[in-house]
Amino acid sequence: MTQRMIQNKTDLLRTSSEKQATAGINPVAARADAPSSIDLSEGKKIFIKDLLDGEHAGQRASILGWVWRRRQHANAQFIVLRDSTGVMQTVVPIAVTAQPLYIESAVEVVGTIVKDDRAPGGYEIRADKAVVIGQSHEYPISKNFSSDFLLDVRHLWNRSSKIKNVMIVRERVLEGARNWFRSKDWHEVNPPIISGSTAEGGATLFELDYFGKKGYLSQSAQLYLESLIFPLEKVWSLTPSFRAEKSRTSRHLMEFWHLEGEVAWLDFEGILKVEEQLLASTLHHVAETAPAELKAIGRDAEDLLRINPPFKRVHYEEVLRRVNSAGMDMRPGDDLSTEHERFLTIEEKSPVFVVEYPKAVKPFYAKIDPDRPELVYSADMLAPEGYGEISTGGQREEDLEAIVERINAEGFNIDNYSWYLDLRKYGSVPHSGFGFGIDRIVRWVTKRETILDTIPYPRTLTRIYP
Ligand code: 4AD
Ligand code: MG
Repeated sequence: MTQRMIQNKTDLLRTSSEKQATAGINPVAARADAPSSIDLSEGKKIFIKDLLDGEHAGQRASILGWVWRRRQHANAQFIVLRDSTGVMQTVVPIAVTAQPLYIESAVEVVGTIVKDDRAPGGYEIRADKAVVIGQSHEYPISKNFSSDFLLDVRHLWNRSSKIKNVMIVRERVLEGARNWFRSKDWHEVNPPIISGSTAEGGATLFELDYFGKKGYLSQSAQLYLESLIFPLEKVWSLTPSFRAEKSRTSRHLMEFWHLEGEVAWLDFEGILKVEEQLLASTLHHVAETAPAELKAIGRDAEDLLRINPPFKRVHYEEVLRRVNSAGMDMRPGDDLSTEHERFLTIEEKSPVFVVEYPKAVKPFYAKIDPDRPELVYSADMLAPEGYGEISTGGQREEDLEAIVERINAEGFNIDNYSWYLDLRKYGSVPHSGFGFGIDRIVRWVTKRETILDTIPYPRTLTRIYP
């Protein structure tokens, strides 16, 4: 924010309080629980980060925020206020508050900005007025609560700096990805969430009664994205996807955010390059736009800046060999488990692709490698440091007969896919796509123990509240 804008804001503040003063009302003594003196219809709120830029010592300011920390002294309270942009210490003489200020009370504090090296951020506000806008009695979260309790009060715990920082990183992940798609002329589309056909198979379906017919919550937008390459060629979407995951793990949500892309005229090699570039560019954007949040979280921004294509590749056969020779059990045709992925990536600093999967491991749409028909053109991208799978992508089967056979082999009702088969009947082209789990990327970037801490309201096997 420019100096001039701040100046305007403080001018406005001065104007409103001086107006009151000249009307014979002392603003300091004005009704203690009055609404804020800032004109809320104009977006005139001043943000803490702008007051901490070192150029406002001696000026008067009014901040709206919540009590984050408090210390009571004989004649004053030291109140650290938080807003969405930071924290700032205020010294509030007992005489200027009509009501006590508790943790999470919403307040307006008015006073003079003073340089003080002991204050967080180097400045504090010496208040001559403090108004409670919304009182907070016995805020239930203080210290040392179990993770279950914090999930029960997630609507309040989301105010913590821990979750807030993760939410900002998450926002930058989405922004970075969107920027990349924009810069490469991909089109963003909105596929349906309720559907009659399924992409990823029966075990994890959320079924619903759709006016007497069976409907499903989307597990993946892929099939619809495949249809939209015909008008738009390069399409992507960000949607919630739903999986009735029957086990509790640190990397599964029932409702997760799925970033999917699909592109015409691109083969397996091509789509792996897209995934690498998209991810690297996204991570660089996070490093550049959220350095403070990353630091607070304990992630070195350099870790993200160092990630650049091409990513390492390991063949499925090689995975089998390495996993088994490390004493773990994996049979040909098994998918990788969390434990296997952890083992493969724990020492890595950059993502790794697993390629050359056997046909049996992957869904019906994965294109068979014509030279080795037991294998498919599908790849999983595994995040480094042990975090494991963050995307699956590959080339799609574009041949009508081949895909009919595969749908039947999976035991799906072919009638539900007749629209999808039309895509192979009318101008089918080679095409490829992928899906990233946003929550999984965020978990890795923010080094969270569990995926539950990457999203404000995680949906799990046992939780639909709050
Ligand atoms: O590997 P998946 O199941 O692949 C698909 O759905 C493809 N149809 C995507 C496509 O090609 N358009 O899911 C893709 C990614 C996974 O790699 C993982 O990152 C994430 O979605 N994911 C989950 N994230 C959190 N909780 C879950 N239950 C997830 N299931 C998948
Ligand atoms: Mg997968």
